[in-house]
Amino acid sequence: MSGATELSVKPLAIAADGVHLSFDGTSEVLSDVSLQVRQGEFVSLVGPSGCGKTTLLNLAAGLVPHTGKGNLKVGGLVPRQGNSQVGYMLARDSLMPWKTALGNAMFGMEVRGIPRTQAEERARVMLQEVGLAGFENALPKALSHGMRQRVALARTFSMGSPLLLMDEPFGALDAQTKLQLEDLLLRLCQQYKQSVLFVTHDLSEAVAVSDRVVVMTSRPGRIVADIAIDLPRPRSIRELQKDPHFHELYAQLWSHLESGWSKHEG
Ligand SMILES: Nc1ncnc2c1ncn2[C@@H]1O[C@H](COP(=O)(O)OP(=O)(O)O)[C@@H](O)[C@H]1O
Ligand SMILES: [Mg+2]
Repeated sequence: MSGATELSVKPLAIAADGVHLSFDGTSEVLSDVSLQVRQGEFVSLVGPSGCGKTTLLNLAAGLVPHTGKGNLKVGGLVPRQGNSQVGYMLARDSLMPWKTALGNAMFGMEVRGIPRTQAEERARVMLQEVGLAGFENALPKALSHGMRQRVALARTFSMGSPLLLMDEPFGALDAQTKLQLEDLLLRLCQQYKQSVLFVTHDLSEAVAVSDRVVVMTSRPGRIVADIAIDLPRPRSIRELQKDPHFHELYAQLWSHLESGWSKHEG
């Protein structure tokens, strides 16, 4: 075997090729969706409510079966529920109210069969990384919404899944807290290098955190633009606000969203 000719090409984190989906067999929720997320890439999905963003994440997580035309692979395989290669984080923290911050941070690892002592050790490190050292024994009701999302980030990143699906994880936070958690997310991604497919309503957020932003439009959900975010990393949310290119990219995204609406109305 010749080392020079050996290829160790990893499969795409997500490869959607002409994906169609209908829940009722008549109206399409997704139409001809083609999207690639490379290993280590951070891709955001933006688009009007109801255009199928969550449905696309659910397909990738294997929570919704792909029954329509096209091809969808996650890590080179047909998506399946309970795949340890995929982590999912939602807008609402989805913490268990009876478990402490530590218990919640450990939970994902325990479900995946990681021994308890190892899970606890890792969860403690992760809680420290998300700024919650000292809150290990706090119950969710004693934590602010921002802190609860920090616990959810700790749980999501601690599982070590190469692909993370995030559905508006900061959508319900106040503006200030959101900026802090975006900075934290940038730092975690820089450190762990997971591939991420991230859904957001917030165009600034999409530009700030992503390598690419994919714009969808509704009825049926289609992709109308795929924009490279060529801002250097590491990034700081505060510094980005001063960068004219950040604002150009924001304006570009906004115009794609608008053109999606006017085409739809026309
Ligand atoms: N399980 C389901 N059964 C039937 N219709 C669904 C289901 N999930 C989502 N839908 C419909 O699919 C469309 C896209 O929904 P969704 O993916 O939640 O949009 P988004 O996340 O972009 O707001 C909506 O019209 C929604 O009502
Ligand atoms: Mg949604």
